[in-house]
Amino acid sequence: MLKHTFAWTLTLLLCSLSLFSCRHASENKHYTIGFSQCTGGDAWRRQMLSAMKGELLFHPEIELQYRDAHGDNARQVNDIRDLVKNGIDLLIVSPNEASPITPVVEEVFKMGIPVIVVDRKISSSFYTAYIGADNYEIGELAGSYVSEVLGGKGKIIEIWGLRGSTPAVERHKGFVHALSGFPNIDVVAEFDGAWEIDTVKHGLAAATTQATTVDLVFAHNDVMAYGAYEVFKEARPGNDTKFIGIDGLPGPAAGIQLVDDKILSATFLYPTGGEEAIRTASKILKKEHFEKDNVLLSTVIDPKNVRVMKLQTDKISSQQADIVRQQEKINEQVNAYTKQSVLIYILLASLVATIIGGAAAILAWREKKEINRQLEAKRNQILEQKNEIAEMAEKAELATQEKLKFFTNISHEFKTPLTLILGSIDEIIAKNTADRVTSTDNLRLIRKNAIRLLRLVNQLMDFRKIEDRKMPLRASELDLVAFIEEVMAAFNKTAARRNIRYTLLGNADRLLAWFDPDKLDKVIFNLLSNAFKFTHDNGKITLTISVDESGKNAVIFVEDNGVGMSKDDADHAFDRFHTGEHSAGTGIGLSLSKEFMELHHGSLMLSSELGKGTRFCIMLPLGKVHLSDNEIASRDVAFVHDIDYEAIADDTHLPAAEIDVENDVTIKEHTILIVDDNQEMRFFIRKKLQPFYNIQEAQDGVSALDKAFSTVPDLIICDVMLPGKNGIDVTTTLKNDLRTSHIPLVMLTARGSIEHKIEGVKTGADEYIAKPFVFEYLSERIKALIKSRKLLRDHYIHGLNVSTVTTAPGNLDRKFINDFTALIEKNVANADLAANEIAHELGMSRVQVYRKVKALLGFSINDYLVNVRLQKAKYLLMNTDKSVAEIAQEVGFSSPAYFSTIFKNKVRQSPTEFRSNKMNLHPTN
Ligand code: FRU
Repeated sequence: MLKHTFAWTLTLLLCSLSLFSCRHASENKHYTIGFSQCTGGDAWRRQMLSAMKGELLFHPEIELQYRDAHGDNARQVNDIRDLVKNGIDLLIVSPNEASPITPVVEEVFKMGIPVIVVDRKISSSFYTAYIGADNYEIGELAGSYVSEVLGGKGKIIEIWGLRGSTPAVERHKGFVHALSGFPNIDVVAEFDGAWEIDTVKHGLAAATTQATTVDLVFAHNDVMAYGAYEVFKEARPGNDTKFIGIDGLPGPAAGIQLVDDKILSATFLYPTGGEEAIRTASKILKKEHFEKDNVLLSTVIDPKNVRVMKLQTDKISSQQADIVRQQEKINEQVNAYTKQSVLIYILLASLVATIIGGAAAILAWREKKEINRQLEAKRNQILEQKNEIAEMAEKAELATQEKLKFFTNISHEFKTPLTLILGSIDEIIAKNTADRVTSTDNLRLIRKNAIRLLRLVNQLMDFRKIEDRKMPLRASELDLVAFIEEVMAAFNKTAARRNIRYTLLGNADRLLAWFDPDKLDKVIFNLLSNAFKFTHDNGKITLTISVDESGKNAVIFVEDNGVGMSKDDADHAFDRFHTGEHSAGTGIGLSLSKEFMELHHGSLMLSSELGKGTRFCIMLPLGKVHLSDNEIASRDVAFVHDIDYEAIADDTHLPAAEIDVENDVTIKEHTILIVDDNQEMRFFIRKKLQPFYNIQEAQDGVSALDKAFSTVPDLIICDVMLPGKNGIDVTTTLKNDLRTSHIPLVMLTARGSIEHKIEGVKTGADEYIAKPFVFEYLSERIKALIKSRKLLRDHYIHGLNVSTVTTAPGNLDRKFINDFTALIEKNVANADLAANEIAHELGMSRVQVYRKVKALLGFSINDYLVNVRLQKAKYLLMNTDKSVAEIAQEVGFSSPAYFSTIFKNKVRQSPTEFRSNKMNLHPTN
């Protein structure tokens, strides 16, 4: 758009400049004068034109269009018409002959175009001005002069100008009139010279032959007089005929010069009137005052004044030449000025164009800046929208992930009860027995887990209803204290069994409140089961009921001193799909509880500190002004638990058979540590393994580590989802600690995906079993792992090929074995080397080294030490000549006798016997 503006501006500028220059030119040439000349061929006419041009120099506003009719009347008529057609403002005409030219001149005059007649006249008075000398008077002057020169007597020839032209006629009349007083002067002949020298030269000869004596020839102009002179000079050499003419022009072969050269006796000045014609024209055109008839003066030029005349005319000529030169100079300067003006205009135009261009550029720049700003704003807006979309997509993705995680977790929630149900059923089927105790225990376990599944399903359905807004509040006015006491009662047995201080505090015995018992029951029950789940045995769980300061809300605190939550877990505890690190469960219960409290127009909040405990706060608005009619139950409903709460509340209740199991103290060869937060699961596994192994239990990650380090079991079964420290962390810690790195670890988990399996195995787990599992499989894997440890031991002891070992030792165990054997090797001669010293050297406790050496090598430290000493002794006996006493000392026995005793004990030969039988043995064995 700006480009257009710029182009337009430039065009306008150039147009105005050209208009300016056009106007300037037309100002210079304001008027056009047409000049129709009867003939342009002679000196007098050239003089006239040059005089006009000289005068025009002072009238730059006037343009002259010139036409030469070459003495042809018809042509002159055409010339005049042509000039008029050209749109002249004024006509100057010197008619060839009066009669033929008069009509066209009248015509022009009548058209309103001013007409100036010069020199020769027309036959009417339809002209604007006349300029010319008085030809009659000149004729008279000539006649008088002739009479004087001839002394009143003589013969004359008169040579006429063109007969139809007025000067010829008038000159003749004046001449005749002047001579009329001199009867002795005779015009012997008249000759038509028609103003032309050639006509005279060719026509006069015949006439002259007729006249015997001619004293004087009077010609109407100088050129014809000179022509006559020439003719006479040739025809009558030496005669003294005098010649006179008219015009008196300056210049070579012109009148004045001819007089000076004594060719002419005299000439009469006949001014051309060129300057006067232009001056008068200018006056007419500019509407100034002018004279209609302008008679130019004439005078005689003869030998008396010819010199002065010549000098004057020469001077005039040179002055005219000067004027022309100066005019040329002026023209040059005007041209230079014009050029410079043009240059200045161009520069000015360029400057203006530059300024306009600059302005346009600034405008364009501003426009561009504005567009850029708008674009930038648009871009930012789009970017913002994009970010918003990305954020929303991320949120949606996160929500989807959370949902997927939630459904995975909830599916896993189903797996533990299902494992227990299936395991119990398996057992019933396998035993197919009337063992009532086992059957009853199993059936009870099946029932409880089925109820647990039902509760999970109910919670899911509640969720669905809440999401679909199909769960209205049905509030009735009830005693809150009594209600809570009733809900709390479900946990009394559990609290007593686990020695948990479980109390209800509050000032009032009774507090009436409007609530939906079905929903508040779920809230309180859920908070309590949560508290019991995360509180250690011997812990404390307190409920407090009060009314807040405003008196408008009931406040219920459910407080425990259990494991507590990290800040992140606490922040997300109410997120529907969140699963806390510390929690093996799902966030569904807490999320539902919060929704239920919000249905009550109340709230549920929590504060928690990791390791210290958790406190939930329920706010329930009192009264019913905040409730709409459809939130109030139509009739009081008796509140009934829809499922067996007690069965669930007593989640840690163990069947009677457990006691027997725990009391089974028969010592077995291997010890297994079972780590699972679900007591039933622990019990289930324990019950099955107890007949073959010593069993240790841990319910969370921290106590699992404690037990592993203190007892160094032969195998660990560990659940992945544990409160506090999860199974992965536990495995990583154990596998990276020298004290426990050798212990085979079976990871038990509800997460059965291959990714989870890889994750578990990566941390160093030796086996990864997904729930629900078939117990026999677990049992077989335990056997195989323990066996592989034995094979490994054999490898260390007997130098078997590693590839035959099913479970290769980890790097840490290899290092331990290397360090341990190197230490023994180095100190084999040291009789004082004992377990204490070795443990110290290896940076472990005596028990840990003992258990580790036993686990990895199958020997006690001392047995191993003795073995090494004996191996070395065998070698020395076979390959050296050293005495038995020397060898005993070298392999670290305090006395040769003790060495011999031990040697004989183990090898069943005395050292001497062994040496003598060496040929029967392999040298390196
Ligand atoms: C020139 C001329 C002059 C003369 C005049 C008369 O053409 O012949 O010599 O004076 O014309 O019109």
